[in-house]
Order: sequence, then C-alpha cells, then structure tokens
Amino acid sequence: MARGAAFLGSEHAILCGAMSWVSERNLVAAISNAGGFGVIACGAMTPDLLDKEIAATKTLTAKPFGVNLITMHPALFDLIAVCASHGVGHVVLAGGIPPKGSVEAIKEFGAKVLVFAPTLALARKLLRSGADALVIEGSEAGGHIGPVSTSVLAQEFLPALAEDHLVFVAGGIGRGDMVAAYLEMGAAGVQLGTRFACASESIAHADFKKAFFRANARDAVASVQVDPRLPVIPVRALKNKGTEEFTAKQREVAQLLDDGKVEMGEAQLRIEHYWAGALRRAVIDGDVENGSLMAGQSVGMVTSEEPVATIIEGLLAESEQALSRR
Ligand SMILES: Cc1cc2nc3c(=O)[nH]c(=O)nc-3n(C[C@H](O)[C@H](O)[C@H](O)COP(=O)(O)O)c2cc1C
Repeated sequence: MARGAAFLGSEHAILCGAMSWVSERNLVAAISNAGGFGVIACGAMTPDLLDKEIAATKTLTAKPFGVNLITMHPALFDLIAVCASHGVGHVVLAGGIPPKGSVEAIKEFGAKVLVFAPTLALARKLLRSGADALVIEGSEAGGHIGPVSTSVLAQEFLPALAEDHLVFVAGGIGRGDMVAAYLEMGAAGVQLGTRFACASESIAHADFKKAFFRANARDAVASVQVDPRLPVIPVRALKNKGTEEFTAKQREVAQLLDDGKVEMGEAQLRIEHYWAGALRRAVIDGDVENGSLMAGQSVGMVTSEEPVATIIEGLLAESEQALSRR
C-alpha cells in the first residue's frame, strides 16, 4: 500500500469512494481522520455548495481528502475553480471521459487527477495525457456501473499497468482478504463504498442503513435499459418500488426524445437528475420504498453500524492475516 498511501498522503491506501449525499463533510472527515482517504461527492452540487462543503470538511479534519466531480456536470470548470481556490490535493473525475481541458485545469493548480477508464486502451491514453492515477471499478459496485466484473478488470489492467502506474481497485470489496489479493496483483490501493455507507459517522437515514443491514448480495441489482434509443448507464441498487419507477422514467424521457423536445445530452442529464433526486429521498429522507438504495453486492457483508476506524482496522487485520497465511 505504500505507493498508494504516498500518492494520497494518507496512512492507508484505502479510499472511500464518493457517494452522492452520503460522502459529505462528516463521513469524509471521519475516513481521513481514521487514516483512509475520504472523497467529497460533488454530484449535482452547485459551485457555491461545493465551496461550503470543502470549507466545512476542512474544519473537521487536517488530513488530506479529495473531491469527486462528475464529468457531465454543466458547471464542471467552475467546480474545478472552487477546488483550486481551496487547494484541494486530489480530484477524481467520474462519470465519463474527462472533457477536453479538464485534466489540464486540475493539474494547473497542482492537484493530482484520478480517472476511471472502461478499457485498457483508454486507460493508457488518459495516463499518457496527464492523469496521475486510475480507478478500475467493476460491476459489483454500488451506484453507476460498467459491464465488467472487478476480478476480470483486475486481471486485465493490473499486469499491464501496475508496474508503471498507480491503479486503485474498486467494486465488490467487502473484506481485507480481497484487499490483500488486489495488492498482490499490483494495485496501489483499493476503493470501497458500500462498506462505508452505513458507518456510524455516515449521515444516511437510519432506515437507509437498516435496509443495508437486511440485504443480501443478490438484492443489489443493476437497472435495465428499457429503450434501445436512450442509452442509460446501469445503476446497482437494492430492489424496491423505485427500481420500477425508473423504468417509467426512462419511457417518459425516451418519449421526449422521440417528440424532439429534448436532445440526447439533455435526455441523459434528466436521467442523472432523476438518480440524484431518488438517492436523496432514500439517503436523507429515509424513503426506502420509492428512493434509490444504491448499494454494491458487498452489501451482504454490511450487517451493523460501526465506526469508520473499526471498519478500516478490520480490513487491515484481515488483509494482514491473509498475507501471513501465504
Ligand atoms: C450510495 C452510493 C452512491 C454513490 N455515488 C457515487 C458518486 O456520486 N460518484 C461516483 O463516482 N461514485 C459513486 N458511487 C460509487 C462509489 O464511489 C464506489 O466506487 C463504489 O461504491 C465501490 O464499490 P462497492 O460499493 O462495491 O464498495 C456510489 C456508490 C454508492 C453505494
């Protein structure tokens, strides 16, 4: 983990992946204070809100933390400017290929850039053009997902890139045994979301947490695309009424597209706004029926509320045990 930890400036190379509404000041600061690396989820925040969130996080921790920006956010460059004004050390660009000039704009104020890449060829290209580190995230993960599992991505990307580049592995990591396995394969560190979502320091509603404690891996299902003309990124979440509502939402947006009332970019943005709203209903309001309970398959290993420090210590102990068994 040393390489990853040196890059992040944290004690352990364990990132808590940004989770919209969940990864706010309290959880982010708790993760960083416990020796991990917290990341603020900017999601659909305005630049003004992000500004306040970063400032508030700084009052809760003196340790490094990052900011996750969604590439399709209409105010991406203003959000980058907010990160610059706070001297944020690490920016994660998520949700698609970084638009032209965004990596450069982040590097210009001295921050490190972490990117996601769906294919090895694209990963190489992004690393060549300035990205400092890569996150590979498999389909076991919670939230927006790609089609390939973490185990396959790890076998494809790590042998090819890990010697010369920093690669963090995410998706489906529930125990330290898996952390050890990916480190052995060359990963610089790992990123977890689901395991941290219900930590004591997480502001997620008590009912949201209860739904996680009750759920098994098989309850965390990927959304399906209902209209071939409207490509939607699948989202993994616990099955509920909201899952069905998403089907209706897709039909509604596809109709607007057909009627020429919106363009493709706008249609996809409407889908993303839908998710942001649905996730908020579940995380903040505790509406676990109609809201979106985004969760990864590791949700079956989330059985009780624990402080972040306990979760991190547990992962490290399991990882060490696994390595000494070897
Ligand atoms: C509730 C929830 C919300 C998420 N929101 C975001 C997000 O806003 N941006 C992002 O890049 N990833 C998001 N993710 C993905 C996490 O950052 C992380 O990569 C993922 O949870 C790792 O896989 P795991 O859930 O199997 O641990 C979210 C995940 C969850 C569970």
